[in-house]
Amino acid sequence: MTDQTKSMLVIDDEDSICLAFERFFKARDWNTSSSASAGEGLSDYDELRPDVVFLDVRLPDRSGLDLLDDLSERGAAVVIITACGDLDTVVRALRGKACDYLTKPIDLDKAFALAKRISETKNRGTEKQAPLPSGGEILLGNSPAMQEAYKLIARAAGTRSPVLVQGETGTGKELAALAIHRFGSRRNGPFLAINCGAIPEQLIESEMFGHVKGAFTGADCDRAGKFESTDGGTLLLDEIGELPMSVQVKLLRVLDSGTIERVGSSKTIRPDVRIIAATNKLLEEQVQFGKFRQDLFYRLAVLQISMPPLRDRGQDIPLLAKHFLRQFALNSNDRQKTLASDARDVLMRYAWPGNVRELKNAIDHAVTVAPDRTIRQCDLPQSVRKCASTVSQGDGSLEKAVTDYASTLTDGEPERYRRTIGRAERALIVQAMKLHNGNQSGAADYLGLHRNTLRKKLRELQIQQ
Ligand SMILES: Nc1ncnc2c1ncn2[C@@H]1O[C@H](COP(=O)(O)OP(=O)(O)OP(=O)(O)O)[C@@H](O)[C@H]1O
Ligand SMILES: [Mg+2]
Repeated sequence: MTDQTKSMLVIDDEDSICLAFERFFKARDWNTSSSASAGEGLSDYDELRPDVVFLDVRLPDRSGLDLLDDLSERGAAVVIITACGDLDTVVRALRGKACDYLTKPIDLDKAFALAKRISETKNRGTEKQAPLPSGGEILLGNSPAMQEAYKLIARAAGTRSPVLVQGETGTGKELAALAIHRFGSRRNGPFLAINCGAIPEQLIESEMFGHVKGAFTGADCDRAGKFESTDGGTLLLDEIGELPMSVQVKLLRVLDSGTIERVGSSKTIRPDVRIIAATNKLLEEQVQFGKFRQDLFYRLAVLQISMPPLRDRGQDIPLLAKHFLRQFALNSNDRQKTLASDARDVLMRYAWPGNVRELKNAIDHAVTVAPDRTIRQCDLPQSVRKCASTVSQGDGSLEKAVTDYASTLTDGEPERYRRTIGRAERALIVQAMKLHNGNQSGAADYLGLHRNTLRKKLRELQIQQ
């Protein structure tokens, strides 16, 4: 053997998983070993010191994430195995120094490629992380698109660079910003927000940086701005795309210098603030149209997170709906209602231009109007029922559905055009795939597309087949 033989340990109480891992890695000349519990896993690790550990989060004697802490203290390279990558698990895994994580069912080719990569780069840090918070409102969703977002949130939480969170209205940008704060080292500091679109231009500067008495008419006392009040915490600049040009210049200067002055004062203050900006406009487009300063864009978009629209992650809809049903029941002290299958179908078909917020409102509406414990299609808001049925008919109503959809958008024209076209394309492809029972060649012929082009689009638009 030319290379030094690599070794791996899989810690999982499911025998079949251990066996599959061992076989696969053995066939590729790795030394392998497996343990069925956390206790056994830790002693096996100490004995064998494998290059890579695959660790299940659910173990009979102890949480895999707790074991991860012990393993990472020993400098182990750990890949977490999880049945579903929820935000908490992903963040804990990545912040707890796991190298990566895999979701079940396990793709062994992927696991092997990961192990190989990890074993070849062995410069692992061992700095300790503070314990993470739990509870409170949290982002939900197991779709691949959300898991990507979780990974970025975890990374952002581990740094203090500015972050730009983009996404359509109601996709959870504010929740993402809050998660970055809660999972980061500033979690004990304040989390404040300024809505740049809701404050009149002449007041924004004072809202951000504060003012001294007499600085302008009505300034009858000294007042700290949000930057000062956020000292030691995180400040969310919401709707940043709405920030007037004059304030953009000032914000840029503040970000560059790290200091602020209250309006009307020349005394400089240096608050310790982490900035997260959020926008439902495409900020890069705003830059192209000269509505947003390019230099400020680069300053804010050191890390970028894009929150996926709900229509691109249909698999999260039942889970979110159930969550909102539970929340509603808790708040009203009522028994939790359930969704009938016809209502569920409508929720799955609808395009959700208002994303998760709109889903939440639709569920709240349905819970209120449903006469008994079961929510049926007729209990859902009319707008949802109407649009869901037009898209599904597959006759001349597609145009109407798209027109309806376009009329719900409130952004600028370029954005509206892009989204409407995207929506129409998606609906046509979904329909063609349905007509041909998932047969790609048939659907491609029907659409007049090359099969490879259709495949690419299915991937890009994340259409499940
Ligand atoms: N992934 C999610 N899981 C659970 N709740 C969510 C999720 N995304 C959004 N929500 C809920 O939907 C509502 C809207 O979320 P949020 O305010 O974070 O959206 P936003 O992207 O900031 O919207 P806007 O652009 O309109 O400000 C909130 O009630 C939030 O709790
Ligand atoms: Mg928001």
